[in-house]
Amino acid sequence: MPAVVLVGAQWGDEGKGKATDLLGDRVDYVVKFNGGNNAGHTVVIGDEKYALHLLPSGILSPGVTPVIANGVVVDIDVLFEELDALEARGVDTSKLMVSSGAHVIASYHRTVDKVTERFLGKRRIGTTGRGIGPAYADKINRVGIRVADLFDPKILREKVEGALDQKNHLLVKVYNRRAVEVDEVVDELLGHAERLKPMVADTGLALNQALDAGHNVLFEGGQATMLDVDHGTYPFVTSSNATAGGAVTGSGVGPTRIDSIIGVIKAYTTRVGEGPFPTELFDADGEYLLKTGGEYGVTTGRARRCGWYDAVIARYSARVNGLTDLVVTKLDVLTGMEKVPVCVAYDVDGVRYDEMPDDQSAFHHAKPIYEELPGWWEDISQCRSFDELPANAQAYVRALEEMSGCRISAVGVGPRRDEIIPIHDLIHARA
Ligand code: GDP
Ligand code: IMO
Ligand code: MG
Repeated sequence: MPAVVLVGAQWGDEGKGKATDLLGDRVDYVVKFNGGNNAGHTVVIGDEKYALHLLPSGILSPGVTPVIANGVVVDIDVLFEELDALEARGVDTSKLMVSSGAHVIASYHRTVDKVTERFLGKRRIGTTGRGIGPAYADKINRVGIRVADLFDPKILREKVEGALDQKNHLLVKVYNRRAVEVDEVVDELLGHAERLKPMVADTGLALNQALDAGHNVLFEGGQATMLDVDHGTYPFVTSSNATAGGAVTGSGVGPTRIDSIIGVIKAYTTRVGEGPFPTELFDADGEYLLKTGGEYGVTTGRARRCGWYDAVIARYSARVNGLTDLVVTKLDVLTGMEKVPVCVAYDVDGVRYDEMPDDQSAFHHAKPIYEELPGWWEDISQCRSFDELPANAQAYVRALEEMSGCRISAVGVGPRRDEIIPIHDLIHARA
């Protein structure tokens, strides 16, 4: 009864939603374990396109129980809006479970997110403005509000008072904003309690029992390895653990129960928001990737920064996540290039780095060392087996596999559910 973790191997938007959807009819639970509505996952089923933010992509698969686990930060307004929108399109959302231990994003978190970014000026992170960082900061500061608190008005009021005490000083005295009223926040949160109540559960217990009963569980990561607060390009990261370890702390399922870890990676690289990005392109090739790949953010609509595949990052992701499988997406976007450069190492002020530098300044100075691979011209979107790919596309995939040090188990050749080349079974027991 495999427990499978699926994470982004770059800076997000690798196609995790599509990969999760692909496994949807073979798993019983899909668990979101980190992040919140900063995520934007696209799933294309036939002619229907869905954009998921707070809900796990597995909610679109009829047999799946979707779970929002304790590691997630939940904006309850957004949760209800997303559920209503899916219900209106005929998706059954009745099985959703929300952890009583998940933290809540309140209006003041969104306010603090926006004012902090403004005050950071040049040093801003380029956050999604959804209140993610401030909600996690409160969690770590031990002044967060959890889902269970909504069902005990007395405790809720005390906790909101505690959370607003310092924050109001900051908002009024430093940021020149009006103070947030305790009553307003308490009333708003209590107003959500009745609708939320039937979804709330001890999801850690439920998931362990599901594994005991032989069910398949898929843990779907939001964001990605290079945005992980510990292992990413700090401080230009999100505020949660988007790497595989986050699936454990963020769900209450122990590490010994995890069978495999899938990394999703684009055949090139994109990034949204600020921060270093060695293979970023500022020329016609970058423009080509942006346009051909449709690289616009699902959450904020921002154009994504585009660049070539970075094998140093792929290797790093394989290492920090302990990847067992890679799913390479968007190979079709590279069709029609004479040569496809791949970054194999960095030059940092004259010194060659084959591995990710462990200090921020070195990574900021990293210049990519490229190897050029021959391109292909044939339309590959109809290919459904590895052998059908043109020889140069096969060689490209094999080269990525060798450089990343992790086997490639599937290759995406288009956004639709069926536009995928399976190579190895993605659901397997521990080797
Ligand atoms: P996520 O956040 O990792 O779930 O990824 P996003 O949904 O933000 O961005 C991935 C985009 O690539 C979406 O528009 C997908 O529909 C699209 N996509 C996924 N796989 C492929 C693929 O193999 N080829 C192409 N052309 N598009 C893909
Ligand atoms: P998915 O799950 C790409 C980026 C933001 C910003 C940084 C911090 O769709 O891959 P935050 O609002 O989280 O505090 O912003 O992280 N970011 C993402 N970039 N894909 C995402 O999610 C992202 N979620 C956050 O652009 O640079
Ligand atoms: Mg996305």
